[in-house]
Amino acid sequence: MAQLSVQQKAAIVTGADFWRTVAVPGIPGFLISDGPHGVRKVEDHAAALGLGESDRATCFPPAAGIASSWNRDLVERVGQALGDESRALGVGVLLGPGVNIKRSPLCGRNFEYFSEDPLISGELGAAWVRGIQSRGVGAALKHFVANNQETNRMTVSVDVDERTLREIYLPAFETIVRREQPWTVMCAYNQLNGVPASENTWLLTELLRDEWGFSGLVMSDWGAVDDRVAGIDAGLDLEMPGPVAESSASVVAACASPAFEAKLDASVERINQLAHRVTDSVGPAFDVEVHHELAAAAAVESIVLLRNEGGILPLTPGAPIAVIGELAVTPRYQGAGSSQVRPTRLSAALDALQAHTEVEFAAGYSLDQSHNAQGLIDEAVALARRAETVLLFVGLPEGFESESYDRTTLDLPGDQLALISRVTAVNSRTIVILSNGGVVTLEPWHDATAAIVESWLLGQAGGLAIADVLFGVQSPSGRLAESIPFRLSDSPTFLNFPGDGNTVRYGEGVFVGYRYFETADVPTRYPFGYGLSYSTFGYSDFVVQKKGSRASITVTNTGTVAAKEVVQLYVSAPTNRDVRRPVRELRAFDKVSLEPGESTTVHFELSDRAYAFWDVTRHEWVVDGGEYTVQIGRSSNEIIAQQAISIADSRPKRALTLESPVSDWMEHPVTGPLLKRAAAGEAVEGGASVLDMVASMPMRRLLRFPGVPVTASALKVVLLAANNPVIRGIAALFDRS
Ligand code: BGC
Repeated sequence: MAQLSVQQKAAIVTGADFWRTVAVPGIPGFLISDGPHGVRKVEDHAAALGLGESDRATCFPPAAGIASSWNRDLVERVGQALGDESRALGVGVLLGPGVNIKRSPLCGRNFEYFSEDPLISGELGAAWVRGIQSRGVGAALKHFVANNQETNRMTVSVDVDERTLREIYLPAFETIVRREQPWTVMCAYNQLNGVPASENTWLLTELLRDEWGFSGLVMSDWGAVDDRVAGIDAGLDLEMPGPVAESSASVVAACASPAFEAKLDASVERINQLAHRVTDSVGPAFDVEVHHELAAAAAVESIVLLRNEGGILPLTPGAPIAVIGELAVTPRYQGAGSSQVRPTRLSAALDALQAHTEVEFAAGYSLDQSHNAQGLIDEAVALARRAETVLLFVGLPEGFESESYDRTTLDLPGDQLALISRVTAVNSRTIVILSNGGVVTLEPWHDATAAIVESWLLGQAGGLAIADVLFGVQSPSGRLAESIPFRLSDSPTFLNFPGDGNTVRYGEGVFVGYRYFETADVPTRYPFGYGLSYSTFGYSDFVVQKKGSRASITVTNTGTVAAKEVVQLYVSAPTNRDVRRPVRELRAFDKVSLEPGESTTVHFELSDRAYAFWDVTRHEWVVDGGEYTVQIGRSSNEIIAQQAISIADSRPKRALTLESPVSDWMEHPVTGPLLKRAAAGEAVEGGASVLDMVASMPMRRLLRFPGVPVTASALKVVLLAANNPVIRGIAALFDRS
């Protein structure tokens, strides 16, 4: 550090170009590339974003797809392959995973995020990071934090309360940081409660480093910096891209303060450590075929079978089918924006289906609306009329969802809706296959179909996966990692998305996704966690250990084909007087693979956090004492086994004072019986209990009312006794007996 001039240090903390860091003698530069679901290495490092110009790399299913797999091992294997490809392409840090929560189904970038639930996002994100970093390549956990919309993403202030932040938006980041120590974290563009993420000392230093123990490097999102000096002060080590003359000049000037220069030194040191951690040798070439097969395996598990009337699926090999829909030949396999990978192969569903049976095809619509829509529909309907079974491929064309802007509707394009209506009217054996990154509504056409396959965006091998699932080579095993609402207006963020002007208020609090639907009892078309299989599963022997720290359940494949089941464990908290809790929350899950007739017992470990909420008065996790229900669900809406357990309060008992509400005095073993006896004669007034009416009143206030025959000084003596642990303990014994 001593050998570096202030100018050199100021240069190092901002990028050398779009994708490289600055090199000085002793500190090598390294290459950063976009991910997350593939390596987007741009050859000309100085070139702007270079969308579409990158080297070829395997395009795995984006997060929205692979999240439906609920399969940690699979995600880790994809992470390893991403690490190998990064090495082969000389990339030192791969930008991903993105673990922002899907707050609204309209977010244009939902295809790049895992779930509306923090547990899945954290578990799958952790597997992703573990896989990449096992190959000596750094991950970049992004976008930290509360980047849940694209509208005004660079400027919007997210107004979110402390509990919501802790329970919904932070846990995925927290799990991954604590468990996997990602080499880097990328800060978000937006402001958090009025402070830009890139200048947020609480976020980047106090929470990330001091509380969670992060020891890696914090980089900016591309162009997220306004004030470089404030950024360094807050803990933002590296600004990307660069160079930015204004940043360097301001950093040099700020070094007049030794305290600031010490912070700059800390950032330079972290860049130095990362630069030496990154392996500079280019790794061996990756096996394109093997990775394509892995992409296909990942795509299979990403597919969610939503509807299968009369068991129309799987199809019989050899039986002729009509395939309708341009998306069967021009697949939509990833989202638009910085994550766009140039794939090594691309399998279209039509080609893959032809390997299983005889196929007739009609486009039905054009993705760029360049053709006569009516003509395409008429041609498709004629084919549907004479076909025995129709596979109808519909979905969102690329321009409908992208990084940088949000959607305004959950509907499919109008020409596709017209096509679905006409085709289903002439062929009752119509199977709809959807391609979309963000959720689409299945209304009003849902009931007219024989089956619906939600295939999200499946990466480069999606066509193979779709054909394998439709023909039963593989049983579908995806489960929804996000709810599918009937209508946009049913969703909890409807009134608060994307906000007013430059502010978005997270008014729904912790009630995001299924936490809202289940608690408010708002029906969804398909709930979180839902998905069909070609097999059936039986559950038995649900055991929850008394203290709630362990649970187990036996699962049996009761059907006739090999299949995978996702075992979902939810916790339902008791009604809390002060804090509204969701009716249930996912607290553990596992995926098991079973042959017909085979059983296995799944074991879960549950920490205190499974029962806790974030207490804003104490600024810590608190477990409320009371009766909890541990539940096993086929989805957030279908509980098939449950067990009640009693859990002790984690808070030390609060001393009783004159400020304590009357209810606390009532519940106390010493003062409760005294109060009840004193109020015995007047406990009811006009049908209402007087004690209930004054329950929330601090005792000191009650004493001021005329006719209350006790004084504060008399009660102080009672308090001495009540707060004496021995007397309290004895009174508690009497209270019980
Ligand atoms: C995106 C990041 C991405 C970066 C570099 C930004 O606009 O938000 O996710 O990694 O660009 O392309």
